[in-house]
Amino acid sequence: MAGLVVVGSQWGDEGKGKIVDLLAKDADVVVRYQGGSNAGHTVITGKGTFIFHLIPSGILYRGKLCVLGNGVAIDPGGLIGELDGLKKNGIAVGKRFLICQRAHVIMPYHKAIDKAAEQAKGARRIGTTGRGIGPAYVDKMARVGIRMGDLLNPDVLKQKIQENLVEINAFLRRIYKAKGFTVESIFKEYQAYGERLRPHIADVSLVLDKAFGRGQHVLFEGAQGTHLDVDFGTYPYVTSSSSCSGGACTGSGVGPTNISAVLGVTKAYTTRVGEGPFPTELHNEIGEQLMQRGNEFGATTGRARRCGWLDLVLLRYAVRVNGLTSLAVTKLDVLDGCEELKICTGYRHEGKLYREMPADLKVLQECQPVYERWTGWAADTTGLTSYRALPTVAKRYLARVEELSTCRIDIISTGSKRGDTIVIRNPLDRSKKRAK
Ligand code: IMP
Repeated sequence: MAGLVVVGSQWGDEGKGKIVDLLAKDADVVVRYQGGSNAGHTVITGKGTFIFHLIPSGILYRGKLCVLGNGVAIDPGGLIGELDGLKKNGIAVGKRFLICQRAHVIMPYHKAIDKAAEQAKGARRIGTTGRGIGPAYVDKMARVGIRMGDLLNPDVLKQKIQENLVEINAFLRRIYKAKGFTVESIFKEYQAYGERLRPHIADVSLVLDKAFGRGQHVLFEGAQGTHLDVDFGTYPYVTSSSSCSGGACTGSGVGPTNISAVLGVTKAYTTRVGEGPFPTELHNEIGEQLMQRGNEFGATTGRARRCGWLDLVLLRYAVRVNGLTSLAVTKLDVLDGCEELKICTGYRHEGKLYREMPADLKVLQECQPVYERWTGWAADTTGLTSYRALPTVAKRYLARVEELSTCRIDIISTGSKRGDTIVIRNPLDRSKKRAK
């Protein structure tokens, strides 16, 4: 094993934080490669509940190197807040945390544009997290972005802010009737961030190359999910980065030959936060029950998540576009007590049956899901750690998920605590033992 990528197979919030936390103990390096503080990973340990927006959750283990690759959009103020929070909880970070000098910086004007654009869109809004993600990636592609390395060079930083504000201020004032920004205030704030973060800014691609050279295990922690990917998601209701496994290479500066496995994390049902199509969404008491039992409220914005049945069209597509080698199924316990379970196997639209994911938003918005019905289980699966102990019907449900997705299940999560997990195979385990 060299590189293992962990990605979300749905619309984010699949419980990747817990799975990465579990795997991180067998990894040497943990890497974030895309997204920014729009993500929110919750990890519950003996030391308390930690919510990370930027820092990889692997930081909770002593001795692990955690890095943010070039593909991550960095909000330096928020990041410093996370570093301070770790310090307050007695977790020493020191040289164990690095940020790529090529990573782009989220500026105050990105957040202002994000919020103003959403407001102006009205009913067509995307439901963004308001963290400035889209506008920061727009600047990156328009070649006017400010990178972490620029924060260390006051002349370059000031000049870039000056140049950018000419257009940005005009845009904010004329189009959105919003207030503009002054060069001095942003410059002072961001130069100070650069000085504080200076010891952590590095050439991450080089650091990772050396780690692979030493034969170390590198874990790539995806944020958001497959169906929020800017290319493969339900465009335009997506985020602005490559949240699929391919993003691990372009977002960290490693070649694809270093990736040996890709683990897709999926909930035992489906959720989505923000706007956009969701064919298996439940607008009834079962949806409400999943929301309450699954505590489906966003870690970043606190918004209630929309809930629905497991959608195998989405999952099979995730297997394909990520090259998934195995699955981690989370929140199985949330389905305890459901009399009947449904699995979506296709979509029907204007007399046509879709077995594969349509790119056409209209089809996704208007289609009727085609369901298989499964008997639920009454038993409490919370905290189970052995596959054998699962109710027979739960095993059948999981076997059907493997069959329809064409991907084997390696891990099943049965609760929010670290230990509430069934590990059938650990994708990072050097001994390759298989537990049942
Ligand atoms: P943005 O990433 O803030 O631009 O938001 C774009 C879309 O992605 C919105 O629907 C958000 O709700 C969604 N989104 C962004 N980050 C996450 C996440 O970490 N989990 C779930 N949804 C997310």
